[in-house]
Amino acid sequence: MLIIRVPLVAGLLKNGNFELAPKPADMKGTVLLHPNALPEWKSTGFVEYIKAGQKQGDMLLVVPEGFAAVRLGNEASIKQQIVANVTKGMYYSLTFSAARTCAQEERLNVSVAPDSGVLPIQTLYSSSGWDSYAWAFQADYSVIDIVIHNPGVEEDPACGPLIDAIAIKTLYPPKPSNKNVLKNGDFEEGPYIFPNTSWGVLIPPNIEDDHSPLPAWMVESLKAVKYIDSDHFSVPHGKRGVELVAGRESAIAQVARTIIGKTYDLFFSVGDASNACEGSMVVEAFAGRDTLKVPYESKGKGGFKRAKLRFVATTTRTRVMFYSTFYHMSKNDFSSLCGPVIDDVKLLSVRNPHGHRHRL
Ligand SMILES: *[C@@H]1O[C@H](CO)[C@@H](O)[C@H](O)[C@H]1NC(C)=O
Ligand SMILES: *[C@@H]1O[C@H](CO)[C@@H](O)[C@H](O)[C@H]1NC(C)=O
Ligand SMILES: *[C@@H]1O[C@H](CO)[C@@H](O)[C@H](O)[C@H]1NC(C)=O
Repeated sequence: MLIIRVPLVAGLLKNGNFELAPKPADMKGTVLLHPNALPEWKSTGFVEYIKAGQKQGDMLLVVPEGFAAVRLGNEASIKQQIVANVTKGMYYSLTFSAARTCAQEERLNVSVAPDSGVLPIQTLYSSSGWDSYAWAFQADYSVIDIVIHNPGVEEDPACGPLIDAIAIKTLYPPKPSNKNVLKNGDFEEGPYIFPNTSWGVLIPPNIEDDHSPLPAWMVESLKAVKYIDSDHFSVPHGKRGVELVAGRESAIAQVARTIIGKTYDLFFSVGDASNACEGSMVVEAFAGRDTLKVPYESKGKGGFKRAKLRFVATTTRTRVMFYSTFYHMSKNDFSSLCGPVIDDVKLLSVRNPHGHRHRL
């Protein structure tokens, strides 16, 4: 078998946090005057270069990474070509931070031909006004163009979303092991998380498993789930976990290969991210037609419990899914959506359902 080693790519794109400013001659006020004004990028349409501390009406603009961001007006876009880092056929995830300004229905169209995805950025999850989003693609070519486009058309062209900090990361396709029928059950493989941001990364809704920034998992719901790391949050196991931030509107799922008539145990951890998300939480787990409700009392300071759902497979493919029964808000600011954390998900077949041994 031919084994191709694909190098890990992980970090900001060139001038991915826009710290290299356009030359004064290439701007009029904040507006870029031509497609090559922003170093390392090509732009189209009404694009502004925004510095932290700048005001828009009464609103003070803050910038998460360094001191600058860009604003995409109506139908505006920014594009960067990647020539050195991607391997044809491999999967990559993009992470970027965005903030909405004055428009009502803000969305961003992220594309790497022939793939594209329209990400809703309307719902605010963090109190700072900025959220980070992930989107994944498979590289069909070894040279790719990453395009972020604002498809919106507002009366005020300066009402478009702000973008800052765009990073890329290689996603290695996870495999099931003899310790778990599920793939990436610990959520360790996933999108890039900015070391300097403390609000995690949103995995947008309607993500299929073949192009998921969270390999092997699908986000089947109307709202995003949040990918969190142990540097900024409490995570039950390993370095990464998933926070179910939007009640029943935010669910993650994976389809596992199962043998009809066999007994399985689905083990998982339910906890809180230590982000002041307090209260009585319930995670609902599904395995085919079987369900389990796991209550968890959160003090918002971290902690978790293990749960187990035992079931007998009735099909060769069993859908495993999790969501939060309730909506929660952070006690710190009463505006950030939050919720229970799910982690360390294991599916094992039970050799002797009346004993305690687990085998595949
Ligand atoms: C892309 O490749 C260049 C040249 O090898 C390297 O300097 C850069 O750090 C890479 N970028 C990322 C995001 O890994
Ligand atoms: C998003 O952008 C891609 C590439 O430009 C385009 O093919 C696609 O139609 C766009 N999608 C929407 C909904 O505008
Ligand atoms: C994070 O912040 C530090 C200090 O402000 C800065 O030196 C570093 O470049 C930042 N990291 C990234 C990935 O932007």
